[in-house]
Parts: sequence; structure tokens; C-alpha cells
Amino acid sequence: MAEDVGKKLDNAPRPPQHLNLFAFKAEPSSHHHGDERAALEVFIPECVDAAHGAHTWPSAPVLAQYVWQRRREMPNKSVLELGAGTALAGVVAAKCGAHVAFSDDAHAPACLDSSRRSCEVNGVTDAEFIAITWGRFTRDLVALQRLDFIMASDCFYDARDYEDIVVTVSFLLDKNPGAKFWCAYQERGADESIEELLQRWEMKGTEIPLASFHADSTSVAASHLPGRHTIRMLEITKMSPYTFVAGCVC
Ligand SMILES: C[S@@+](CC[C@H](N)C(=O)[O-])C[C@H]1O[C@@H](n2cnc3c(N)ncnc32)[C@H](O)[C@@H]1O
Repeated sequence: MAEDVGKKLDNAPRPPQHLNLFAFKAEPSSHHHGDERAALEVFIPECVDAAHGAHTWPSAPVLAQYVWQRRREMPNKSVLELGAGTALAGVVAAKCGAHVAFSDDAHAPACLDSSRRSCEVNGVTDAEFIAITWGRFTRDLVALQRLDFIMASDCFYDARDYEDIVVTVSFLLDKNPGAKFWCAYQERGADESIEELLQRWEMKGTEIPLASFHADSTSVAASHLPGRHTIRMLEITKMSPYTFVAGCVC
């Protein structure tokens, strides 16, 4: 397998790359259906001198492990990955049967190329690649078809972008009632106010304990990337238009 991948990478002149392996396994206790995967290996090509979107970040294996844990929900679902970069989580969703649209900053086309390369190496052919810059309401964003899940790993790293991300997600969740935003990010300091922003844009985040999906160790999906970083996993949804205040529905 690794050899085949190596041959594919040799075909085109590109910056020096290595392949990072991520491995996912079903828990021994889980009941398998005949056609269900018991394990999945994903190879992610990464540039050595990497820009943000050309190598995999510490939250990506955590989000990917969460997707793997919920793999039975993936077949025939429509998924959008924001700030995808090397796109580990989106590739796992696609390998588990989802149709995935990979997106990244319109001003950094090389990042979307990283997503393309990851798909190519892992045999993901049923995928779309879309330039989506957070906070921009372009024709491509507005034209997106039905979405069941939106996902992002390590996109909350520069506080100046937080509201743009939240606004984009709010727009997509409004357009897709019932859709969920799965978001893994690394806590970096006291200046973070994601919860406050979520409230302002009428969304709520539910913390998913890492232990509940076997992501509470320094190594996740056979990768040491999470290490000792403090990583949080949130499921974000739109708040109901009806809110309980002092016992009455307003
Ligand atoms: C820290 S990297 C994370 C990449 C990948 N999700 C991961 O976890 O490995 C942040 C990603 O967000 C993208 N990004 C940065 N600013 C952006 C913006 N304003 N709009 C859309 N994407 C952006 C970068 O190009 C990069 O791919």
C-alpha cells in the first residue's frame, strides 16, 4: 500500500513530501455489520516546509477519530470541511461513505491542493473542492447543496478570524436545519471567547468528552500529534428559536 502511494506521488514534480499514517480501529466490543470497516488507514501527504494548510495539525486526528466513532452515520451524508488543509477528517468521512466537499481559503489555493492530494492518495474520488473564505458570502458558498455535517479542525487559532468562522457556520446551519458542526480545536490562551460568539449568533456548543471516543491520550489514531495539547471537541448546533426564560417559553 505505502509503495503504491509512493509511486502516485512520484508522478508529478511537487515540493518534498512525506506520508503521515493515521490508523483507526473499531473497538473490540462493537458489533460489526457484514459490510462495515473494522479498521481504516489513511495516508496524508505533507510538505516538509509547511504552510498552515500543508501539514496536519494536532486537532485533526481528534476530529478524525470522532468521525470514525460515528462512521455508521456517514453513508450518503453530505459533509463540508472548512479550512480543510490536509483534510484528514474529511478523508475519513469520505472513506466511511459520505460525500465530502473540501474547502479552504480562496487566497491560499495551495491549501486546497493539499486536500486534493490527500483525496488522491487515499482513493477518494467522489469529492468537491471549493474555495470558501470564512466570513465571505460568495456564490460558491451560497450555492452549496444540502449539508448534514460541517466539520473543522484547528481553525480557531487566530482570534481575529473567530467571528468570521462563526458567521459562516451560522449561515450554513440556518440554511440546513438539523445539520451539526463538529469542531476540534486546541486551547491556546485566555483570550478565547468562542462560547460568547456562539451565543451571539444563536448557536450552542456541546462539549464531547475526548474519553467518550478514545481520543483522551497523547496518541490518537496512531498519531502523536495531539501530544499534551489541550484539545476540545464541540458539537455545535443552532439554538431553538424558543428559549425558556424563568419557566415560560418566549
Ligand atoms: C491550522 S490549519 C488547519 C488545517 C487542517 N484543518 C488541520 O487540522 O490539519 C488552518 C487552515 O485554515 C485555513 N484558513 C486560514 N484562514 C482562512 C480563512 N480566512 N478562510 C478559510 N480558510 C482559512 C488555512 O489555509 C489552513 O488550511
